[in-house]
Amino acid sequence: MPDNIKPLTSVFIALLKSKRGWGFLTINLAQLALYALISSYSAQANDQLAEKVGPGRADSGKELSDSERCQECHGSDGISHDVNVPNHAGQNAGYLIKQLKDFQSGDRIHDTMNRMAEDLSETDRVDIAAYFAGQPVMQGTGSTSKSYVRNLFENGNPDRQLKPCTECHGPNGKGMLHDGMEVPVIGGQKRAYLRRQLANWKSGERQNSPDGLMNKIAHLLTDQEIEDLADYISGL
Ligand code: HEC
Ligand code: HEC
Repeated sequence: MPDNIKPLTSVFIALLKSKRGWGFLTINLAQLALYALISSYSAQANDQLAEKVGPGRADSGKELSDSERCQECHGSDGISHDVNVPNHAGQNAGYLIKQLKDFQSGDRIHDTMNRMAEDLSETDRVDIAAYFAGQPVMQGTGSTSKSYVRNLFENGNPDRQLKPCTECHGPNGKGMLHDGMEVPVIGGQKRAYLRRQLANWKSGERQNSPDGLMNKIAHLLTDQEIEDLADYISGL
């Protein structure tokens, strides 16, 4: 008999001998199923976190982002205290790394961030991204915006070839991998920052999304919709 079966068999025999018999066995099977379910959920959650954080070393990222003073603006836990500075808490590492590369190469333009990203090595970027991605994900405080916005966010508008934001950004805009793209967390992001990014995609001031996809999407939005979407999404 293989070694791993032996203990199981003796438990089974003990159960047959026990006064509580089969009733006891049913309870234990139910418990076992519950444990299996819980551990498969937590294994899944661990896998998702590992995927989000990437291969970087968060402890070194913490030090680097402190000494480089990223945390001064973006917050020590990735939640910024300035409405114009985006949160990074729980943001996908792959997305953060791409943005830092784009700031360094000039594919994304912003005076402060172009300077901040200038000296970062690939290892610095990966480690800093791991630190911020590992923080509890940014959360909004609920949304009081107009009801049409939620519909626009979740269902898009087929008449205007407008795709649902959730198709790529995931439920509640909490980010995901879609079609090989690291789509950022936007749910719970700063409102003024979201508004500015959508306006910049629309005007073409920001152009670094794959195949200009966010430019095409923002082009289809009216200025009022941009305002209302920023309001709604920041509350998620
Ligand atoms: C003086 C304040 C300041 C400092 C210091 C700073 N940032 Fe920023 N960061 C900003 C602002 C403002 C933006 C928004 C840029 C825009 O509007 O496009 C930004 C944007 C970003 C983004 C893009 C976020 C997104 O959701 O697309 C990343 C990534 C980032 N910063 C990382 C860093 C890192 C890493 C450091 C340290 C090396 C750093 N920042 C230091 C102010 C700062
Ligand atoms: C087809 C996929 C797709 C759809 C649909 C989509 N997005 Fe995006 N979005 C992206 C990707 C990919 C990026 C990251 C681009 C980059 O690499 O800079 C992005 C970036 C953004 C950003 C910038 C986030 C930041 O931290 O700077 C905002 C804001 C945004 N999207 C809002 C929206 C809204 C609102 C909608 C719906 C009206 C939407 N997106 C629909 C794929 C999509």
